[in-house]
Amino acid sequence: MPTTPTNPHLPFGDDKNAPWYGKDILSVKQFSHDDLQYVFGVAHEMRGMVERLGTFDLLKGKILANLFYEPSTRTSSSFTAAMERLGGSVIPISEVKYSSVSKGESLPDTVRTLECYADVIVLRHPETGSAALAAKYARKPVINAGDGVGEHPTQALLDAFTIMEELGRLDNLTVTMLGDLKYGRTVHSLARLLSNFSGIKLNYVSPDILRMPRDVIEEVGQKGIPQAEFNALEQVLPDTDVLYVTRVQKERFEDQAVYESVKGAFVIDPDVMKAARHDMIVMHPLPRVGEISVDFDDDPRAAYFRQMEYGLYVRMALLAMVLGKA
Ligand code: CP
Repeated sequence: MPTTPTNPHLPFGDDKNAPWYGKDILSVKQFSHDDLQYVFGVAHEMRGMVERLGTFDLLKGKILANLFYEPSTRTSSSFTAAMERLGGSVIPISEVKYSSVSKGESLPDTVRTLECYADVIVLRHPETGSAALAAKYARKPVINAGDGVGEHPTQALLDAFTIMEELGRLDNLTVTMLGDLKYGRTVHSLARLLSNFSGIKLNYVSPDILRMPRDVIEEVGQKGIPQAEFNALEQVLPDTDVLYVTRVQKERFEDQAVYESVKGAFVIDPDVMKAARHDMIVMHPLPRVGEISVDFDDDPRAAYFRQMEYGLYVRMALLAMVLGKA
Protein backbone atom coordinates (compact mmCIF):
# COMPACT_ATOMS: atom_id res chain seq x y z
CA MET A 1 0.00 0.00 0.00
CA PRO A 2 1.46 3.38 -0.92
CA THR A 3 2.24 5.57 2.02
CA THR A 4 2.25 9.34 2.09
CA PRO A 5 5.83 10.53 2.54
CA THR A 6 6.23 12.75 5.57
CA ASN A 7 8.89 15.34 6.05
CA PRO A 8 9.67 16.28 9.65
CA HIS A 9 10.77 19.71 8.48
CA LEU A 10 7.41 20.48 6.88
CA PRO A 11 4.77 20.62 9.62
CA PHE A 12 2.08 21.65 7.15
CA GLY A 13 1.64 21.52 3.38
CA ASP A 14 0.92 24.44 1.07
CA ASP A 15 -2.33 26.01 2.18
CA LYS A 16 -4.04 26.72 -1.11
CA ASN A 17 -6.77 28.59 0.79
CA ALA A 18 -4.27 30.97 2.42
CA PRO A 19 -5.24 34.51 1.42
CA TRP A 20 -2.06 35.30 -0.54
CA TYR A 21 -1.36 31.83 -1.94
CA GLY A 22 -0.20 32.02 -5.57
CA LYS A 23 -0.74 35.80 -5.81
CA ASP A 24 1.58 38.29 -7.47
CA ILE A 25 2.83 41.27 -5.47
CA LEU A 26 3.02 44.11 -7.97
CA SER A 27 1.82 47.25 -6.21
CA VAL A 28 1.03 48.54 -2.74
CA LYS A 29 -2.44 49.25 -4.11
CA GLN A 30 -3.17 45.54 -3.57
CA PHE A 31 -2.91 45.93 0.22
CA SER A 32 -5.83 47.05 2.38
CA HIS A 33 -5.36 48.21 5.98
CA ASP A 34 -6.15 44.67 7.18
CA ASP A 35 -3.74 43.11 4.68
CA LEU A 36 -0.99 45.38 5.98
CA GLN A 37 -1.67 44.38 9.57
CA TYR A 38 -1.48 40.75 8.44
CA VAL A 39 1.89 41.24 6.66
CA PHE A 40 3.33 43.06 9.67
CA GLY A 41 2.08 40.32 12.01
CA VAL A 42 3.77 37.61 9.93
CA ALA A 43 6.95 39.71 9.60
CA HIS A 44 7.02 40.22 13.37
CA GLU A 45 6.77 36.45 13.83
CA MET A 46 9.57 35.97 11.32
CA ARG A 47 11.71 38.37 13.34
CA GLY A 48 11.13 36.31 16.47
CA MET A 49 11.87 33.04 14.64
CA VAL A 50 15.14 34.39 13.22
CA GLU A 51 16.15 35.68 16.64
CA ARG A 52 15.40 32.28 18.22
CA LEU A 53 16.43 29.85 15.47
CA GLY A 54 18.33 31.74 12.77
CA THR A 55 17.16 29.42 9.99
CA PHE A 56 14.17 27.09 9.82
CA ASP A 57 12.56 24.91 7.17
CA LEU A 58 9.20 26.54 6.42
CA LEU A 59 10.02 26.75 2.68
CA LYS A 60 12.25 23.68 2.42
CA GLY A 61 12.15 22.40 -1.16
CA LYS A 62 10.93 25.72 -2.60
CA ILE A 63 12.99 27.63 -5.14
CA LEU A 64 13.13 31.37 -5.79
CA ALA A 65 14.29 32.84 -9.12
CA ASN A 66 15.87 36.21 -8.27
CA LEU A 67 15.87 38.07 -11.61
CA PHE A 68 17.53 41.50 -11.56
CA TYR A 69 17.90 43.61 -14.73
CA GLU A 70 19.06 46.60 -12.63
CA PRO A 71 21.72 46.80 -9.91
CA SER A 72 20.73 45.96 -6.36
CA THR A 73 22.44 45.15 -3.09
CA ARG A 74 19.68 45.17 -0.47
CA THR A 75 16.63 43.88 -2.35
CA SER A 76 18.50 41.11 -4.11
CA SER A 77 20.50 39.90 -1.13
CA SER A 78 17.63 40.22 1.34
CA PHE A 79 15.35 38.09 -0.86
CA THR A 80 18.17 35.54 -1.11
CA ALA A 81 18.71 35.63 2.65
CA ALA A 82 14.94 35.43 3.26
CA MET A 83 14.59 32.30 1.11
CA GLU A 84 17.64 30.65 2.66
CA ARG A 85 16.57 31.48 6.23
CA LEU A 86 13.30 29.73 5.41
CA GLY A 87 15.15 26.65 4.19
CA GLY A 88 14.55 27.23 0.46
CA SER A 89 17.03 27.84 -2.33
CA VAL A 90 17.66 30.53 -4.94
CA ILE A 91 18.47 30.80 -8.65
CA PRO A 92 20.34 34.13 -8.78
CA ILE A 93 20.27 36.05 -12.07
CA SER A 94 21.71 39.42 -11.23
CA GLU A 95 23.98 39.81 -14.23
CA VAL A 96 21.45 39.42 -17.05
CA LYS A 97 24.27 40.00 -19.53
CA TYR A 98 25.41 36.44 -18.76
CA SER A 99 21.89 35.05 -19.34
CA SER A 100 20.01 34.60 -22.60
CA VAL A 101 18.64 38.14 -22.15
CA SER A 102 21.90 39.25 -23.81
CA LYS A 103 20.87 37.20 -26.88
CA GLY A 104 17.65 39.17 -27.12
CA GLU A 105 15.30 36.93 -25.13
CA SER A 106 12.12 38.77 -24.17
CA LEU A 107 10.95 39.27 -20.58
CA PRO A 108 7.89 37.00 -21.08
CA ASP A 109 10.09 34.18 -22.42
CA THR A 110 12.64 34.62 -19.63
CA VAL A 111 9.89 34.45 -17.03
CA ARG A 112 8.28 31.40 -18.70
CA THR A 113 11.70 29.74 -18.60
CA LEU A 114 12.40 30.46 -14.95
CA GLU A 115 9.02 29.28 -13.76
CA CYS A 116 9.87 25.83 -15.09
CA TYR A 117 12.54 25.68 -12.40
CA ALA A 118 11.29 27.93 -9.60
CA ASP A 119 8.18 28.36 -7.42
CA VAL A 120 8.31 32.17 -7.22
CA ILE A 121 9.99 34.92 -9.26
CA VAL A 122 11.35 38.19 -7.88
CA LEU A 123 11.88 40.77 -10.64
CA ARG A 124 13.66 44.13 -10.80
CA HIS A 125 13.51 45.82 -14.19
CA PRO A 126 14.14 49.38 -15.46
CA GLU A 127 10.76 49.72 -17.19
CA THR A 128 7.58 50.74 -15.38
CA GLY A 129 4.96 48.03 -15.80
CA SER A 130 7.50 45.25 -16.37
CA ALA A 131 6.45 43.32 -13.26
CA ALA A 132 2.82 43.39 -14.40
CA LEU A 133 3.92 42.19 -17.84
CA ALA A 134 5.90 39.33 -16.29
CA ALA A 135 2.94 38.39 -14.11
CA LYS A 136 0.68 38.25 -17.16
CA TYR A 137 2.81 35.48 -18.65
CA ALA A 138 3.85 33.63 -15.48
CA ARG A 139 1.77 30.96 -13.75
CA LYS A 140 3.94 31.25 -10.63
CA PRO A 141 3.82 34.30 -8.32
CA VAL A 142 5.83 37.34 -9.43
CA ILE A 143 7.07 39.83 -6.83
CA ASN A 144 7.91 43.34 -8.05
CA ALA A 145 11.36 44.32 -6.71
CA GLY A 146 11.24 47.74 -8.42
CA ASP A 147 10.00 48.60 -11.92
CA GLY A 148 11.71 51.71 -13.24
CA VAL A 149 10.25 54.85 -11.67
CA GLY A 150 7.01 52.98 -11.00
CA GLU A 151 6.74 51.11 -7.71
CA HIS A 152 8.85 49.24 -5.18
CA PRO A 153 6.13 47.61 -3.08
CA THR A 154 8.29 45.36 -0.91
CA GLN A 155 10.39 48.40 0.01
CA ALA A 156 7.27 50.31 1.06
CA LEU A 157 6.10 47.34 3.12
CA LEU A 158 9.45 47.13 4.89
CA ASP A 159 9.46 50.90 5.38
CA ALA A 160 6.06 50.78 7.04
CA PHE A 161 7.10 47.76 9.12
CA THR A 162 10.17 49.74 10.23
CA ILE A 163 7.96 52.61 11.40
CA MET A 164 5.67 50.15 13.20
CA GLU A 165 8.53 48.40 14.98
CA GLU A 166 10.42 51.62 15.80
CA LEU A 167 7.57 53.96 16.77
CA GLY A 168 4.87 51.41 17.67
CA ARG A 169 2.20 52.87 15.38
CA LEU A 170 1.32 53.83 11.83
CA ASP A 171 -1.53 56.18 12.75
CA ASN A 172 -1.19 59.85 13.72
CA LEU A 173 2.22 60.46 12.20
CA THR A 174 3.80 63.33 10.30
CA VAL A 175 6.03 61.83 7.62
CA THR A 176 8.37 64.12 5.68
CA MET A 177 9.74 62.79 2.39
CA LEU A 178 12.91 64.53 1.23
CA GLY A 179 15.00 64.59 -1.94
CA ASP A 180 14.20 63.07 -5.32
CA LEU A 181 10.46 62.56 -5.09
CA LYS A 182 10.02 62.47 -8.87
CA TYR A 183 12.13 59.45 -9.70
CA GLY A 184 12.18 57.82 -6.25
CA ARG A 185 9.84 54.87 -6.67
CA THR A 186 10.11 54.05 -2.95
CA VAL A 187 8.38 57.30 -1.98
CA HIS A 188 5.64 56.74 -4.55
CA SER A 189 4.86 53.37 -3.00
CA LEU A 190 5.25 54.54 0.61
CA ALA A 191 2.95 57.57 0.18
CA ARG A 192 0.26 55.32 -1.30
CA LEU A 193 0.68 52.73 1.44
CA LEU A 194 0.57 55.25 4.31
CA SER A 195 -2.70 56.61 2.95
CA ASN A 196 -4.33 53.49 4.46
CA PHE A 197 -3.78 54.84 7.96
CA SER A 198 -5.59 57.56 9.88
CA GLY A 199 -4.07 60.77 11.16
CA ILE A 200 -1.23 60.62 8.61
CA LYS A 201 0.16 63.92 7.34
CA LEU A 202 2.63 63.91 4.45
CA ASN A 203 5.18 66.65 3.72
CA TYR A 204 7.10 66.58 0.45
CA VAL A 205 10.40 68.51 0.41
CA SER A 206 12.31 68.55 -2.87
CA PRO A 207 13.95 70.75 -5.51
CA ASP A 208 11.29 72.13 -7.83
CA ILE A 209 12.22 69.80 -10.70
CA LEU A 210 12.00 66.70 -8.48
CA ARG A 211 8.54 67.17 -6.98
CA MET A 212 6.22 64.28 -6.14
CA PRO A 213 4.29 63.26 -9.31
CA ARG A 214 0.76 64.67 -9.61
CA ASP A 215 -0.83 61.25 -10.01
CA VAL A 216 0.57 60.10 -6.64
CA ILE A 217 -0.59 63.32 -4.93
CA GLU A 218 -4.07 63.00 -6.43
CA GLU A 219 -4.37 59.34 -5.47
CA VAL A 220 -3.26 59.95 -1.89
CA GLY A 221 -5.47 63.05 -1.71
CA GLN A 222 -8.51 60.96 -2.61
CA LYS A 223 -8.01 59.09 0.67
CA GLY A 224 -8.29 62.38 2.57
CA ILE A 225 -4.63 62.54 3.57
CA PRO A 226 -3.29 66.10 4.05
CA GLN A 227 -0.22 66.73 1.87
CA ALA A 228 1.98 69.80 1.49
CA GLU A 229 4.98 70.61 -0.70
CA PHE A 230 8.03 72.59 0.40
CA ASN A 231 11.45 73.47 -0.92
CA ALA A 232 13.09 73.88 2.50
CA LEU A 233 13.29 71.34 5.32
CA GLU A 234 13.44 73.85 8.19
CA GLN A 235 9.73 74.59 7.88
CA VAL A 236 8.67 71.02 8.69
CA LEU A 237 11.52 69.28 10.52
CA PRO A 238 10.51 70.18 14.10
CA ASP A 239 7.06 68.53 13.67
CA THR A 240 8.32 65.46 11.81
CA ASP A 241 7.96 61.93 13.26
CA VAL A 242 9.60 60.19 10.30
CA LEU A 243 12.09 61.87 7.98
CA TYR A 244 12.35 59.70 4.86
CA VAL A 245 15.43 60.76 2.87
CA THR A 246 16.03 59.70 -0.73
CA ARG A 247 18.98 59.76 -3.12
CA VAL A 248 18.84 61.97 -6.21
CA GLN A 249 18.83 59.26 -8.88
CA LYS A 250 21.64 60.10 -11.27
CA GLU A 251 20.80 57.18 -13.57
CA ARG A 252 17.32 58.62 -14.35
CA PHE A 253 18.60 62.00 -15.66
CA GLU A 254 19.12 62.47 -19.39
CA ASP A 255 21.08 65.71 -18.82
CA GLN A 256 23.86 65.19 -16.27
CA ALA A 257 24.22 68.98 -15.84
CA VAL A 258 20.70 69.04 -14.42
CA TYR A 259 21.63 66.22 -12.03
CA GLU A 260 24.70 68.19 -10.87
CA SER A 261 22.52 71.23 -10.19
CA VAL A 262 20.28 69.37 -7.71
CA LYS A 263 22.33 66.49 -6.31
CA GLY A 264 23.46 68.29 -3.15
CA ALA A 265 20.23 70.18 -2.50
CA PHE A 266 19.68 68.59 0.94
CA VAL A 267 22.19 67.06 3.33
CA ILE A 268 21.18 65.67 6.72
CA ASP A 269 23.89 66.06 9.35
CA PRO A 270 24.03 66.45 13.15
CA ASP A 271 23.72 70.22 12.87
CA VAL A 272 20.55 70.08 10.74
CA MET A 273 19.09 67.45 13.07
CA LYS A 274 19.35 69.73 16.12
CA ALA A 275 15.98 71.11 15.02
CA ALA A 276 14.31 67.68 15.06
CA ARG A 277 12.67 65.93 18.00
CA HIS A 278 14.47 63.24 20.00
CA ASP A 279 11.72 60.66 19.51
CA MET A 280 11.61 60.82 15.70
CA ILE A 281 13.45 58.57 13.23
CA VAL A 282 15.40 59.11 10.02
CA MET A 283 14.96 56.52 7.27
CA HIS A 284 16.52 56.01 3.83
CA PRO A 285 15.98 53.14 1.38
CA LEU A 286 19.74 53.29 0.60
CA PRO A 287 22.11 53.44 -1.15
CA ARG A 288 23.03 56.99 -0.09
CA VAL A 289 25.46 59.18 -1.97
CA GLY A 290 26.01 62.06 0.44
CA GLU A 291 22.47 63.13 1.38
CA ILE A 292 22.96 61.79 4.92
CA SER A 293 26.33 62.58 6.48
CA VAL A 294 28.12 59.59 8.05
CA ASP A 295 28.53 61.85 11.11
CA PHE A 296 24.85 61.22 11.84
CA ASP A 297 25.09 57.40 11.73
CA ASP A 298 25.62 56.93 15.49
CA ASP A 299 22.60 59.02 16.41
CA PRO A 300 19.84 56.74 17.84
CA ARG A 301 17.37 58.41 15.47
CA ALA A 302 19.31 57.04 12.46
CA ALA A 303 17.09 54.05 11.63
CA TYR A 304 18.34 53.38 8.09
CA PHE A 305 20.61 50.46 8.94
CA ARG A 306 17.96 48.84 11.16
CA GLN A 307 15.51 49.40 8.26
CA MET A 308 17.52 46.98 6.09
CA GLU A 309 17.18 44.25 8.70
CA TYR A 310 13.41 44.77 8.94
CA GLY A 311 13.40 44.18 5.17
CA LEU A 312 14.59 40.62 5.70
CA TYR A 313 11.60 39.83 7.93
CA VAL A 314 9.10 41.42 5.55
CA ARG A 315 10.49 39.53 2.56
CA MET A 316 10.42 36.28 4.54
CA ALA A 317 6.76 37.00 5.30
CA LEU A 318 5.91 37.75 1.65
CA LEU A 319 7.61 34.59 0.35
CA ALA A 320 5.83 32.46 2.94
CA MET A 321 2.50 34.12 2.09
CA VAL A 322 2.61 33.64 -1.69
CA LEU A 323 3.83 30.06 -1.26
CA GLY A 324 0.93 29.17 1.03
CA LYS A 325 2.87 28.85 4.27
CA ALA A 326 1.52 31.86 6.13
N1 CP B 1 16.54 49.99 -1.27
C1 CP B 1 16.89 49.30 -2.37
O1 CP B 1 16.07 48.96 -3.22
O2 CP B 1 18.23 49.01 -2.43
P1 CP B 1 18.91 48.20 -3.59
O3 CP B 1 18.82 49.03 -4.85
O4 CP B 1 20.33 47.97 -3.14
O5 CP B 1 18.15 46.91 -3.77
